[in-house]
Amino acid sequence: MIGAQRMLSREDNELLTKVGPGTPMGELFRRFWLPALVSSELEADGAPVRTRLLGEDLVAFRDSTGRAGILGARCPHRLAPLFLGRNEECGLRCIYHGWKFDVDGACVDMPNEPPSRQFKDRIHQLSYPTAEAGGVVWIYMGPPAERPASVPQFEWVKAPEGHTYVARWLQASNWCQGMEGEVDTSHISFLHSQEEDYNPDALVAQNPSLLVDAALDGAPKLTLLEKPYGFTYGARRTLSDQYYWRVTRWLFPFYSLIPGPADGVAGRAWVPIDDHHTWTFHYQCRADRPFTTEEVARIEEGGIFPPRTEYGSYRLPDGYRVDGRIPTANDGNDYLIDREMQKNVNFTGIWGINEQDRSVQEGMGPIVDRSQEHLGTADIAAIAARRLLLNLAKRLAAGESPSVPHQPELYHLRAIETLSQSDGLAELLNQYEATLGAAVM
Ligand code: FES
Ligand SMILES: [Fe+2]
Repeated sequence: MIGAQRMLSREDNELLTKVGPGTPMGELFRRFWLPALVSSELEADGAPVRTRLLGEDLVAFRDSTGRAGILGARCPHRLAPLFLGRNEECGLRCIYHGWKFDVDGACVDMPNEPPSRQFKDRIHQLSYPTAEAGGVVWIYMGPPAERPASVPQFEWVKAPEGHTYVARWLQASNWCQGMEGEVDTSHISFLHSQEEDYNPDALVAQNPSLLVDAALDGAPKLTLLEKPYGFTYGARRTLSDQYYWRVTRWLFPFYSLIPGPADGVAGRAWVPIDDHHTWTFHYQCRADRPFTTEEVARIEEGGIFPPRTEYGSYRLPDGYRVDGRIPTANDGNDYLIDREMQKNVNFTGIWGINEQDRSVQEGMGPIVDRSQEHLGTADIAAIAARRLLLNLAKRLAAGESPSVPHQPELYHLRAIETLSQSDGLAELLNQYEATLGAAVM
């Protein structure tokens, strides 16, 4: 019955998933500051980075003064790729005829025209505003008058240097499939579970973590509370004499916050490359101290997030190449599935949490046909995220601008993982917020 009621129409599925210029969801996303690159990918006067965001081909570079610029990918003279350009003396110079552009897209040199015939004042390369915070280069691709004053003020964005770890990698599916996996608590008990003999109470007491709760109650009680930033979503699992709660946040338009290590937060953002590809951003921060070099090395070995990757370029089906971390286990090698491992070690035979997620999310096809789904009570969070986004996109298409991009302070939140006697989410939130005061809301 729930499936019949909540199944998405073909039209709404299109509306939810298409993000190119002029689409309702694409226009909604363009009202937000979006994560574009990890700051360390760009070096002053270093190699430019090709990307595509919301269906637009772009090239990013850092100029001699350290400013990050994101320009249209092709030179406005005869459309040569600016990626091949010389990044020198505060601008990116096209290697075909030497035209040069600064981070704002101004044409600052046109050396193949005699001085009296130059028309550089009339040439402006497409450029988008950028900002840097939390180890991320952000981009704003919307109407200039609607630009929010600041990027979302997540704890990981505001944390002191070294307290935040960020990574970006490619997922070969529509952004929404990734985002929906993020708010899908019940899959953890299956997709990410290990074939081991657990003692749930003892394990949770030691280390209540993403992987441990996989072994617990596979049908947790789910509660969802709508909030101005999106929603809070709690999964309550019953232990012998108390409850194990995991409370996560979903924030417009595609962010998650899940409980992180050492009182910090972790989560993902699903930034559309185009309708069929996504940059997944992973962020985690710890409140107590910076990450050590050893901790960063361990994170980068893969296993959770990010997956195992190689930094390189990826050829999209239409021939354009984008640069970034490309996952080692992917559709081309069946995610390195090991059938022995599937029988004896874990549920999937696939190594690594993100590899497991991507195997099913990419395997659904580039854009899943949501009119064919059969949804149940375990799917309430995905249903809510779709509904909230569709509402906002339809309202924007009718002329009503979203207010949430202009409330960056709403993003200063934590996720919660705790053992408690509380049986209701609202009560749990009240208690938790009372103890931590203004640090979380
Ligand atoms: S194509 Fe770039 S300068 Fe001619
Ligand atoms: Fe997952």
